[in-house]
Amino acid sequence: MPYIAAIDQGTTSTRAMIFDHSGRAVAVDQKEHEQIFPQAGWVEHNPEEIWENARAVTAGALAKADLQVGDIAAVGITNQRETTVVWDRNTGKPVYNAIVWQDTRTDKIVDELGALGGGQERYRAKTGLPLATYFSGPKIKWILDNVDGVRARAEAGDLLFGNMDTWLLWNMTGGPDGGVHVTDPTNASRTLLMDLDTLAWDPEIAADLGVPLAMLPEIRSSSEEYGRVRERGVLAGVPIAGILGDQQAATFGQACLSVGEAKNTYGTGNFVLLNTGTEKVLSDNGLLTTVCYKIGSNDTVYALEGSIAVTGSLVQWLRDNLGMISTAAEIEEHARTVEDNGGAYFVPAFSGLFAPYWRSDARGAIVGLTRYVNKGHLARAVLEATAFQTREVIEAMNADSGVPLKSLKVDGGMVVNELLMQFQADILGVPVIRPVVNETTALGAAYAAGLAVGFWASEEDIRTNWAQDKEWTPNMAEETRETQYRNWKKAVTKTFDWVE
Ligand code: G3P
Repeated sequence: MPYIAAIDQGTTSTRAMIFDHSGRAVAVDQKEHEQIFPQAGWVEHNPEEIWENARAVTAGALAKADLQVGDIAAVGITNQRETTVVWDRNTGKPVYNAIVWQDTRTDKIVDELGALGGGQERYRAKTGLPLATYFSGPKIKWILDNVDGVRARAEAGDLLFGNMDTWLLWNMTGGPDGGVHVTDPTNASRTLLMDLDTLAWDPEIAADLGVPLAMLPEIRSSSEEYGRVRERGVLAGVPIAGILGDQQAATFGQACLSVGEAKNTYGTGNFVLLNTGTEKVLSDNGLLTTVCYKIGSNDTVYALEGSIAVTGSLVQWLRDNLGMISTAAEIEEHARTVEDNGGAYFVPAFSGLFAPYWRSDARGAIVGLTRYVNKGHLARAVLEATAFQTREVIEAMNADSGVPLKSLKVDGGMVVNELLMQFQADILGVPVIRPVVNETTALGAAYAAGLAVGFWASEEDIRTNWAQDKEWTPNMAEETRETQYRNWKKAVTKTFDWVE
């Protein structure tokens, strides 16, 4: 069986990819799903639509590659992390839409938990995370507290919680008819409910949140056989053998397998992960400590993460909410009509600000406007926001690790944008490197699954398969770089204190 499949369930779309032994993609199929915004700050997905899309794209990828189920040795799952689904184990029906990681409705819950003592740092030592609306635990609590009858059903043992990995795995392995209720430590480490040392659910935090432990999936490793796809799934009989949260999957697919190696994925948001090896480094500078991967019975590998909520989704917002561009690619054309941002800075604090600030009271702002500023300057400001936010988390990482990053591996949708990549290198002052296979998220999940079934022999195969496509070197005067960055930092302060 010469191929491995991966399902990448992301924030805006679900894709299936098929890889050969050299890590080359032989087919991809993709489907967007609806973004549901019931009110300001709320973001939801329909879990049933996503499960249907996962089946459709898997069938689509097989057909495009002209392959049969028997050609696939294993399938891996990777997913948008934190997004929370609660469903009935007897019917398979979700009790509410999925609450997406960007959703800020849990801000009051988060404040109340902090007020129990310890404030934002209450669970940092155990979970590696600050208290923030981003994570799953408070989202589960919101569903239990606000959807009629749900708490009683959860306490009776009828309801299950999962992130998208668990929701898909449970459905693929039979749903109400024997579905496997499992997750991996990379996903579990984003719930605010898992102890980073023991990789087990923490009963005290679960009690604070009022989440029954029986709802939570079993935490297994990121690379082992969890079960086989049942008839309901498209890959009937194929072992499901890898689960990694999407950012950890990209880190794995980028072959950041040694201490000190880091990648930045440019998706809906940006996520910089630095491999810190088997040592769990707690951040003093606004980063998260997270599980990077756990391959079978090997030691757990940890990472420091700088999570940025809004980067690519700012370009989408310009397209969908303002109609300023008709395709995402147009942003670069507009930005190229001008030399610089004309003094304008766009801070897209649409979900508050994540790393390194963790301020749920922030909201977006465009500052520095004069009559001189035109569409091109705004387009530049939009792209530059991604690069400035990245610099902020890299500075935090350098401070936490004590070792300045020498170069940055990049991947994700926005890395086709040459202007952005050059500006990123300029504003960081270090080279930015793009690999040949840019689909590192799906690839990372495929590697996890392929390692479990012996398709790849060891992590060394991942290193061998990784190859560089292009490198951008810094080409901006130090003074310009620092002036622009100072202006950015000033712009950020204008977004604070918008929500009481
Ligand atoms: O933590 C959220 C992250 O996993 C979402 O990733 O690529 O779907 O924007 P993406």
